[in-house]
This record gives sequence, C-alpha cells and structure tokens, in this order.
Amino acid sequence: MVVNTLILATACSILAVTSAGKHDVYSGYTVHGIKVNDRNDQELLFKLVDSLNIDIWDHGVPALRDALAMVGTERKDEFLKQLDLGNISHYLHLEDVSRTLKEHDLEVSYWRRSKRGRIHPFEDFPRYAEVNAYLERIASQYPDIVTLVNSGPSFEGRDIKYLKISTTNFTDVSKPIYFMNAMLHAREWVTTPVALYSIHRLVEEIRSQDRDLLDNIDWIIMPLANPDGYEYSHTHERLWRRTRSFNPSVSTTCYGVDANRNFNVSHNTLGVSSDPCSNVYPGHVPFSEVETGYIRDVLLEYVERIQLYVDIHSHGNYILFGYGDTSLPLNVLHVHYVGAVMGAAIDALKLPEARYYMVGNSALVLYVSSGSAQDYGQLVGVPFSYTLELPGYGQAFTVHPRYIDQINEETWHGIAASARVSLIHYKARFNN
Ligand SMILES: *[C@@H]1O[C@H](CO)[C@@H](O)[C@H](O)[C@H]1NC(C)=O
Ligand SMILES: *[C@@H]1O[C@H](CO)[C@@H](O)[C@H](O)[C@H]1NC(C)=O
Ligand SMILES: *[C@@H]1O[C@H](CO)[C@@H](O)[C@H](O)[C@H]1NC(C)=O
Repeated sequence: MVVNTLILATACSILAVTSAGKHDVYSGYTVHGIKVNDRNDQELLFKLVDSLNIDIWDHGVPALRDALAMVGTERKDEFLKQLDLGNISHYLHLEDVSRTLKEHDLEVSYWRRSKRGRIHPFEDFPRYAEVNAYLERIASQYPDIVTLVNSGPSFEGRDIKYLKISTTNFTDVSKPIYFMNAMLHAREWVTTPVALYSIHRLVEEIRSQDRDLLDNIDWIIMPLANPDGYEYSHTHERLWRRTRSFNPSVSTTCYGVDANRNFNVSHNTLGVSSDPCSNVYPGHVPFSEVETGYIRDVLLEYVERIQLYVDIHSHGNYILFGYGDTSLPLNVLHVHYVGAVMGAAIDALKLPEARYYMVGNSALVLYVSSGSAQDYGQLVGVPFSYTLELPGYGQAFTVHPRYIDQINEETWHGIAASARVSLIHYKARFNN
C-alpha cells in the first residue's frame, strides 16, 4: 500500500511537471452556478464575493439568469457553506478551470489552422502588435479619412493608439462624434475584434447603405485600452482583468487596478474594494492609471461633439447606462431609447442560442458601482454613454472564435442603428 502510494505520488508529480502550462495558476479552481431568486440573494452573493474575494464571471439577474462565480480551493468550502446558510441553491458549472482554459487554447488553434491563415485581425483574437499594425496600415492606406493618434505609453510602455475617422478631418463641428473603446478589462478578448471590425466597415468596406454613417458622423475608435493587462492575459493569466501598474506604496504583491472603477466619478464609493488585490480595487486616486487618463483626455477634448460613447466589455448581452448609484441622468428617457434601439438592432441578427440584450441602468440591472467609464462619460456631458456587454454564449470570457464574425456583424448593426438614432437628437440639439 505504501509502495503503491509512493508510485502514484511519483507518477502524479511527473504528470504535473510534464503537463505544466500557463493555466496551472487556475488548477483547483472551480466555477459555480448560483440561482439568484431575488435582490436579497444577489446582495448576499455580493457580500460573499467581497469578503472572500471571489471572482464573479456573471452577476446573474434575479429569477432570469444564474450567476457564475469562480473560486479557488482554499475558499471554496467556506463560499459554498455560506451560500447554503443563505438558502441559495448552487451547482458545479466548471469543475476544472485550468482544463477548460487548455481546451479553449486547443479550440482556438484548431480553428486558426482550419482558416489556413486567411484571417483578418478582426476575425481573431489579435495580440497588441497585430492591433497596432492594423491601425497603422489603415491610417497609411486611407490618409484622406483616417488619422492615427498615439495617446502615449501604457504603464509598461506600450503605446495606446486610436483612429479618428472623418470625411472632413474633424473640422466640421456640426457633425457629432461617436467614440468607442474596447478592452479596458483584459480578459474580455472578444471586445477588440468588434472595435476593429467597426473600423473595417467604416473604412475598408463601406457599403452604400452605411455611407451616411461616414458622411454625417466623425468616429474615434480605440480598440485596445489596456494593452498591458491584455498581453498579460495572453502570456500569464488568461483571466486577468486589471491594469498592470505597480505602486509599492499601495501593495508590494498585487499589480493593477480595475480600470472601470478608476474614473473620476463618485470614485471609491460603491461596488469597490479597498483590497489592492481585489478585481474591483479602484486605485488610490481617480485616474491613477494612465490608461484611463487617455480615455478621459479624448472625452474632454471632444466633449462638445461626442454624442455617443460606448465602452465595450464582455459578457452578458447588456446595454447599460448611468449612474452606478441608481440615480438617473436627466435625459434617461432618451438614453434608454437609444440603448433599446441598439439592443433591438443587435437582437434582430442574433443566433437562436444567444440571449436577448437587456437594456437599463447599470445599478438596477446588475449592481452598484462607481468610477466607471460609462458614468464618467455621462457626467462630463456625453448625452448617450453606455457600457456594452457582448455575448458570452455560455463560455464567459473564452468565447469560441467561431462566434467572432457573428458578434462583429450583429454588434456593428447595433452601433450603426444607435449612431443614426442619436444623430436625430444631435441635430435637434444643434439647432437649438
Ligand atoms: C433557510 O431556510 C430555513 C428552512 O426553511 C430557515 O429556517 C432559515 O431561516 C433560512 N435562512 C435564511 C438565511 O433565509
Ligand atoms: C487634418 O488636420 C490636421 C490638423 O488638425 C492636419 O495636421 C492634417 O494634415 C489634416 N489631414 C488631412 C488629410 O487633411
Ligand atoms: C475629480 O473631480 C473633482 C470634481 O470635479 C476635481 O475637483 C478633482 O480635481 C478631480 N480629480 C482628478 C484626479 O481628476
């Protein structure tokens, strides 16, 4: 018996060494589905998430959508016990996160091979260098309508670039601006393709029915807002969400902050954690992160003309607006209307297995928050400011790449619809 155990132990350690891979950091991690029946259940869940520092994959919607929470071995028993004590039913959703991530990697590489290299960056999960190469190529190939702007370096020194797209070189101030950025949260890989595809559709493949979008609107598109976190999610931790800044006066062990809690709007008040290792740590001051500062700079530079701002995230099929404390902007009727138009346009092209989009105030639909990009845009005066949560198809952050084209196409449809309907409002405002 002793001998057998020894052999087994040796075999296991060999196995562990030979199968060592970048997803081992998630070995022993499980994901649990949680039935949230009402607001009380949701609140209990949020308390646990905060006190046990659990990673929420999906917040759930009471009675409609289950929540998903990832937990490591050391906190799992306590978490499940507390759920049981609160009479919240739960089930095992993923029994081994590291294995799921390995399988996803294989799926991606099979899928790439099946495409035989004939894929555009917007049809894939392009790395930082590929995104920049795409932006540079578009800018040099279409100099009449495209200007490449370098915001400046990220914390780790990667230049953060965006494109300005305009038939009038941004000089016609009677045109509204549509500003979008993607990938504030590093693990949300499917967001950058949508931003790149929007560029593609506006510049490389403008269709006659979309001509008005290019002629009547100026566009600012920043496809990769948090390149440090994004690259880190490729090389080290697939489920990394935060930036990668290092501030030893705050923490010598944990890097980065939640960029979407770092904006200067009710900063560090709701839906945040003071633990610098938490996924919702907002930073010690607003705009502690250069990356969020670059988005602020675009918003403030063009605030008079930005009609629509969309911060693209994944996942969950939501279109959310301010404010994160449940208070509503004065023009909430119109904000809701434009969001609903966008959601309906996306849903019109959705796959049968996809959820319908849900549109509403972010705090009422999901949870209270502070310091979000969406709230900051609304606060500084953008009439229509949203968080867009793309579909996850039940796979959360590791959406199968076969869905990229679908998500690009349907989301572009929604972006186009929201641009047109908000243009009507802009004309009304401009003529006043
Ligand atoms: C859980 O359910 C039991 C039995 O129905 C009840 O006695 C208890 O008060 C409930 N606990 C909570 C936190 O609701
Ligand atoms: C657009 O305007 C900028 C100045 O704001 C100028 O530097 C640039 O050359 C112009 N581009 C075109 C294509 O006219
Ligand atoms: C945040 O906003 C407040 C109020 O407008 C302002 O006084 C403060 O300087 C801002 N802080 C930062 C870091 O932008």
